[in-house]
Parts: sequence; C-alpha cells; structure tokens
Amino acid sequence: MKVTFSKAALPTTGAIAIPCLSGRKASDPFAAVDEASGGALGKAAKAAGFDGKPGQLLDLAGLNGFEGRRVILIGVGDGEKFSALDAEAFGGRAMAAILRTREKALTFALLGVALGDLSAADLAARVALGARLRRYRFDKYRTTLEKDQIPQLAKVTVNTDAASAKDVYAELEKIADGVDLTRDLVSEPANVLYPESFAQRCRELESLGVRVKVLGEKEMEKLGMGSLLGVGQGSVRESKLVAMEWLGGAKGEKPVAFVGKGVTFDTGGISLKPGPGMEDMKWDMGGAGAVTGAIAALAGRKAKANVVGVIGLVENMPDGNAQRPGDVVKAMSGKTIEILNTDAEGRLVLADAIWWTQETYQPKAVIDLATLTGAILIALAYEFAGLFTADDDLAAKINAAGAATGDKVWRMPLTKAHYDMIKSDIADMKNIGGREGGSSTAAAFIGNFIKEGVPWAHLDIAGMAWAKKDEPTCPKGGSGYGVRLLDEFVRANYEG
Ligand code: BES
Ligand code: MN
Ligand code: ZN
Repeated sequence: MKVTFSKAALPTTGAIAIPCLSGRKASDPFAAVDEASGGALGKAAKAAGFDGKPGQLLDLAGLNGFEGRRVILIGVGDGEKFSALDAEAFGGRAMAAILRTREKALTFALLGVALGDLSAADLAARVALGARLRRYRFDKYRTTLEKDQIPQLAKVTVNTDAASAKDVYAELEKIADGVDLTRDLVSEPANVLYPESFAQRCRELESLGVRVKVLGEKEMEKLGMGSLLGVGQGSVRESKLVAMEWLGGAKGEKPVAFVGKGVTFDTGGISLKPGPGMEDMKWDMGGAGAVTGAIAALAGRKAKANVVGVIGLVENMPDGNAQRPGDVVKAMSGKTIEILNTDAEGRLVLADAIWWTQETYQPKAVIDLATLTGAILIALAYEFAGLFTADDDLAAKINAAGAATGDKVWRMPLTKAHYDMIKSDIADMKNIGGREGGSSTAAAFIGNFIKEGVPWAHLDIAGMAWAKKDEPTCPKGGSGYGVRLLDEFVRANYEG
C-alpha cells in the first residue's frame, strides 16, 4: 500500500474520508465539501442521524458535485482528548469501509484539521498507520477468490500541510512491517510453519542487518537443554532455538533481551487436549512471532539500541517417543523438573531459552512473551496481556509502552506463595500448580530460571495473539500483539 502526503486540493476520483466533530460541528474539510456540494453533505448527515460520535461512519456515494467519488464521514467526538491511537482508529475505520468497495484510492482530508494535542504531522502519520494496519490480509491459501472479493485499494493520500508527516510515517511504516510479519507467522498453519521453517523465516531478517543464529537438537543436547528438548521429543520435526541480534546501539553495550514461546503446534502431548478448538494451537507460537516481528521493526527503523530476540521452537505431539506425565527432566540451569502435565509445555521451553539467553548475553533486562495459560483468558479476557514481574520500575515502563501503543497490559500478582505452589515431592519443581492462580504459578515456574539480579518480566499473551473479530486497526486473525509494545519499550528506554 503506497502512502503519499500532500497539500493538493481534494482529488477528482476515489474515496475521500472526512473527520466530523460531535454535533456535526464543521471541520475545515467538512465545511469545504459541504459548500462544494451545495449543502448536500450537511443535509445527508443530518437526515442519516449522523452526529459525529466517535467511530460513527457515513458512506455517501453520488453526493451532489461529488459524482464518481465517495465521501466517507467519520465521527471524532468533541476532538479534545483525541489521541494518537484515536487517529489510528480513524484511519483504520475508513480503510475497513473502503475494503468492502471497489475503490482504488483513498484520500484523507485533514488540511486545517486540529484534534487533541496532536501535531499536524503526527495526526497525518497516525491516520496513515491505522489505515495500513487495517489493510492487512492473509489470502495466500485462497485460490478461488472472485475478483470482486479482492480489495482493489492500492493508494492512500493524506492531505495535510505538515511537511514532516512523511518522515514520521516512514518510521511507523517499519513498525507496521513488523506487525504484519508477526500476523503472517501467527496465521500460518502448523504443517507450513514448524521449527525449521520458522527459523528459515527468521534468517530472512539478515537482509535488514540482523545477525541470526540457529541451534539444532545436537547443540541443545550438548548444552543440557533437557527441558526444551523433552517437549519436542514426540515430534518428527527437529526443535530449534533461534537468536536474532539487532546491534544498533553502542558497541559492546549489553543488550535488552526478548524471549518468545514458539510452540508451532500444541496438541498437549500425552496430556492430550480435547479436539474442539485444538486448531487454535497453531498460534501457540505467538510469543515467538511477536519477538520476531519486534526485531524486524527495530532493525527496519534502525533503532539505536542493542536488542536480542531469542525464540524456542518446538512442536508438542503425542507419540511413542513423547514425554510422559511423571517424567523428570533436567534443564540447562541444572535444575530438575517433574512433568505432571505435558500440556504445560510453554514454560518448559522458556526455561531453557531464558537460561541460554542469560548465559550468552548477560542482558540488561529480560522480557518473555508467551501464549502460556488458558487461565489468563479467564482473568483478563481479550483486553490485556497479563504482566508478571517483581520489578516495579520495569512494570511501569512496560505499562507505559502498552498505553502508548494500544498493546495493553494488566499487572498480575507473583509472590513467594506462587513459587511454593510448584514445589515437587521428587524434583526441584513440578511444571503445574493447580487450577488456582494458574497464570501466576506458570510465571513463578519461569521465574525459577531467572538469575539473581536480572530485571525480568513475563507477559502472558494467550488472550491477545489472535483477534476473534475485526478491530479498527486489526482485522480478525493474527493480531501482531506485542510488536508495538516491545518497539516502544526500546524506543522510550534504551535509545538515548
Ligand atoms: N498453549 C496453552 C495455553 C493456551 C490456552 C493458549 C488457550 C491459548 C488459548 C498452554 O500450553 C497450555 O496448554 N496451558 C495449560 C496449562 C495447564 C495444563 C496447567 C492450560 O492453560 O490449560
Ligand atoms: Mn499446552
Ligand atoms: Zn502451549
């Protein structure tokens, strides 16, 4: 999707999106189009009961004086508290309306528009970003789409007088590239995206200047990664560990580390999941997907920071060679784990991936992302990722990044009691607590593999990796959750 920013007059073809304030109070472009249509725009809006409430939309074809063009009015409320995220939603809503039509071009009429505290450049760029994010489709396996089912829109123009809008957008576009990469990875079925093919997709980031290292099972055995390897041992697919290094900061400075759960398919293993809904477990690599997309975003915009993304890639299958409930495995850290449920596998993968990350990089901070527990859905539904950390400063930083990007988080408890709940009778720990506080005991399990003094936070994104319905800036499907959060976390705290 090509985006241009221009001061030119409204186009003579295509669709035009116009913001409208509460009570139909005219913005500059609204007034201009109303006048050019001989008052038809205002009359149509009034007749349709359109009063400019946030998100309200009126799609007008064949307006007097605008024949051959389509005018889309979108409510922005009183405009006073209008935020960057509101601007993105505005852009996304216009895009959603256009994708249902045959229009090839969309112009946002924003000349002379001021909303909230946003600069004209930020307003224009964020509107474009919202449109771009809503434009995403995953059509690669649809071979019988009729021509009229394929959106034609290829060109977006933002009318603005801010000369710098283009530069602001250029950076945001790289972040959107990262989000879309994550959406692609999350959407892929597990027969296509498995540990080795996932690692191959990571290698493609080398073209952005990312250094990519891939460890196979032999190397991981040598390192003693019995926890991660145990999860993959029932699969014919070889487990992999991938490290993606983006070194855009000071030479020799220790990196920030992001670690992702990459279970390319989670059947539950011998503790087999029920059949209905099991297909969702193709996106049990959403944490790894987010980490990969975040590294792509950071490298794409050449972030001035050292960041490493590490993902543990395994497939959890039942098999004659699969690990059994009751098995005891030894993790790379030397700690032993009694496996009481083979479906609590994500934490086992993270245990070794996180330990290896600390040994290899001595990171300044570690954030892990994982579609870890069904329990987090019970607590937080599809609104927030669960944030678990004992570090208030890190919690505040992640919270701020979430609020700024719309990748929302909600802090959950993690205390000694949760660590006590996963003590085993025969090993150093067991891999499940009980139903009670299931997301917190899962976090505590991971916490057992964090070295003394390393700032660490865990994000349980089980409710966020997949959008069950269309949202203004995210079509139904893989959401790309976490990419913007991690990118913003780096931008706000590590880029000088
Ligand atoms: N991948 C699942 C968690 C999950 C569930 C993600 C639903 C997205 C939607 C995870 O591996 C799992 O199976 N967790 C178990 C843990 C339990 C056995 C302690 C769960 O949440 O039921
Ligand atoms: Mn599981
Ligand atoms: Zn899982």
